Amino acid sequence: MSDRTTEAPPPPPADSAGIDPYEKNWMRFSIVLLVVFFAAVTVAGFALGFQVPGEDAEVDPATVTQSGPFSDPGLREVADGEYELYMIARTWLFEPRELEIPVGSKVTFYITSVDVQHGFKIQDTNVNMMIVPGQVSKLSYTFDRVGEYPFICHEYCGSGHAAMYGTIRVVQETGGGA
Ligand code: CUA
Repeated sequence: MSDRTTEAPPPPPADSAGIDPYEKNWMRFSIVLLVVFFAAVTVAGFALGFQVPGEDAEVDPATVTQSGPFSDPGLREVADGEYELYMIARTWLFEPRELEIPVGSKVTFYITSVDVQHGFKIQDTNVNMMIVPGQVSKLSYTFDRVGEYPFICHEYCGSGHAAMYGTIRVVQETGGGA
């Protein structure tokens, strides 16, 4: 009987709520980290203007293809070597799916979805956007290398997701007959 009482651990200090001081320090550290992260995201989003890549405009996904540039998706040359590409993402394809541009072209992509959330990523480039119904995602890229640039939907969007891809073919300038 008397042995038992001497082996019992000492009672915790009155203010510890039974938490080990070592563990308490880690809890304080975690809370400080959360505050720092929250502050960083808030400052980046509101003070520095960081946004989800490419949000350009809001549209009605039900009517976006009936008029305006998305009624006729495709490439438009807006200046020498500069293009705008209006593209529709839908389950499960991109319109247009294949395109060809001369090397050195700067393309500004305007992409919207008419149904669910899709993604748009061009291999070997930093072009990588979310395509959200109701929004137009916008991003520019200059294609300096001849070759094939596959692009894919990289946001799971249903059973046909894996078939949602296309190709941008960047070719030597053919005008002038060289
Ligand atoms: Cu569209 Cu995955």
